[in-house]
Formats: sequence, structure tokens, C-alpha cells
Amino acid sequence: MDLNGKVAVVTGAGRGIGRAIAEKLAEHGAKVVIADVGIDNAVNVAEAINDDGHEAEPIAVDVTRQSSVDRMARGAMARFGQLDILINNAGIIGARGWETRGRPNERDWDTVYAVNVKGVANATRAVSVLMRKRKYGKIINIASVAGRQGAPGNPPYNISKAGVISLTQATALELAPFNINVNAICPGLLWTPMWERIATRQTKYDSASQGLTPRKAFERVVAERIPLGREQTPEDIGNLVVFLASDLSENITGQAINVNGGSRMD
Ligand SMILES: NC(=O)c1ccc[n+]([C@@H]2O[C@H](COP(=O)([O-])OP(=O)(O)OC[C@H]3O[C@@H](n4cnc5c(N)ncnc54)[C@H](O)[C@@H]3O)[C@@H](O)[C@H]2O)c1
Repeated sequence: MDLNGKVAVVTGAGRGIGRAIAEKLAEHGAKVVIADVGIDNAVNVAEAINDDGHEAEPIAVDVTRQSSVDRMARGAMARFGQLDILINNAGIIGARGWETRGRPNERDWDTVYAVNVKGVANATRAVSVLMRKRKYGKIINIASVAGRQGAPGNPPYNISKAGVISLTQATALELAPFNINVNAICPGLLWTPMWERIATRQTKYDSASQGLTPRKAFERVVAERIPLGREQTPEDIGNLVVFLASDLSENITGQAINVNGGSRMD
């Protein structure tokens, strides 16, 4: 798939799924903005991509603040001159200390909503203004299987990801007249720093996981829930992003596509 000449912004690209997405986009020819609240990680990822002979620029952003996201968009334009692709990947499972609480508290509700839902809306607003003018754009939101499948213990996260799917549909309709495709991806179970937090919490509060290491607790869940019997990887998500960011997907919009090894089929 050919993304030569395209410029992509990936939020939360400093590690985990966002990093793999940025690397895949760069491998296929896109210039990539590595946007993250953790600037040190963003700098490392951009350096690695540049060392591989591609083009990347790290930019600090806090997606919960519109002014910060507007600054990110201006920085991306100053560096690369256009914006074709936005990947809204930044997300959190809970506020600081979430894994030490059996139940989410008020801070978890507010922070998860601010990052996972409002953050997507903020970045979409900042970037789609520029895309509209050129009548071209691809926006891909990273939702989750948790947005479709209820689970006990962390409703703020489930609701936020259902919100991302809903926001994807609304934005797809709003931006369709401007030839901007908006889709979501629903990943299943991926071993990243986020799942390390989830598994750490499970080893404390879930009787089936007590006594296990976080990694073993994760493997137990994979074995229990995934028909294909294996975890998904950040690269799996990057591969679908590349397709949705390419012109091969020009008539796909408003969709939420699962990458979950068969754990949920609608
Ligand atoms: N790991 C999984 O199994 C899984 C499954 C389904 C969906 N997801 C979703 O995929 C996305 C990436 O998850 P991950 O597992 O790579 O998580 P992660 O915690 O490893 O990485 C998230 C990144 O987002 C950044 N970030 C957090 N808050 C931010 C903010 N306010 N502004 C800018 N950047 C911010 C972090 O600094 C980090 O680099 C998230 O939206 C997550 O909900 C993950």
C-alpha cells in the first residue's frame, strides 16, 4: 500500500499500539508526527523511524486540552506542510493509581472521559478543519472490543470506548461531504503497558488471577476469551490502519472493525 506523499499524525505514538501504527505508516511511505504527552518516548520513536530512513517528527500534546491539540496541528503543518491522516490512538484505562483500586473512583471517570472521548473529539476538530479545505482526509479512531462487550469492574473505560464508536459514526456523517473517511478499529487483547496495568489489577482483585504474574494473568484471559487462541499485536492494528489510511478504503466510512481473534463478531 502506497502512502508516499501523505502526512500522518498519530496521538499516543510514544509506545504500545501507537508506536507500531506510526512505524507501519512510515514503512509505507507516510511522513509521521509522533504526538504524545510523554515527549521523551515520542522523541525516541521519531529517532528510531528517522534512523530507518523514514521521516518522523515528535510533538508534545495533551489531547484533553483543545489549545494543546491546536498547537500540535500547527506544529505538524509547520514541519510537513499538509495533513492527510489522523490516528486518534491516545487512550488510558484509568487515572493514576487505578490498578490499586478495586473499583474506579470519580477521578477515573473524569480522566478516562477526558482522554478517550474528548481527546478524540479535540484532535478531530483541530485536524479536520485543515482536511476540509483540501477535501481529503482519513481519520482512524482506536476504540476497543470493550466498546462493544460489557465487562465487570471498569465501566468508565467500556463507556468511553462505546463513545468512540458513536463519535466515529457521527463524525463520518459530518465529514463525508468533504471526502473525509472516518473509521474505528476495535482491538482485542494486546500486551502493552496498558494491559500490564489491567493484569496487575487482576492479580490483586480477581480471584482467578491471584498468585499469577501479570503476564500469566494476561495469558489466562487470552486462553479463555480468544477463539484463535493467541493475543493480538500492535503490528496487527498497524496493518489495518495502513489499509484504512490508503486509497484502497475510499468507500469505507463510519465503520468499527474488530481485530480480536474472533472474541466478538459484531
Ligand atoms: N492494549 C490493548 O489490549 C488495547 C485493546 C483495545 C484498545 N486499546 C486502545 O489502544 C490505544 C493504545 O493503547 P496501548 O495499549 O498502546 O496503551 P499504552 O498505555 O501503552 O499507550 C498509550 C499512549 O497514549 C499516551 N497518552 C495518554 N494520555 C495522553 C494524553 N492526554 N495526550 C496524549 N497522549 C496521551 C501515553 O503517553 C502512551 O504513550 C488506547 O486508545 C487503548 O484504549 C488497547
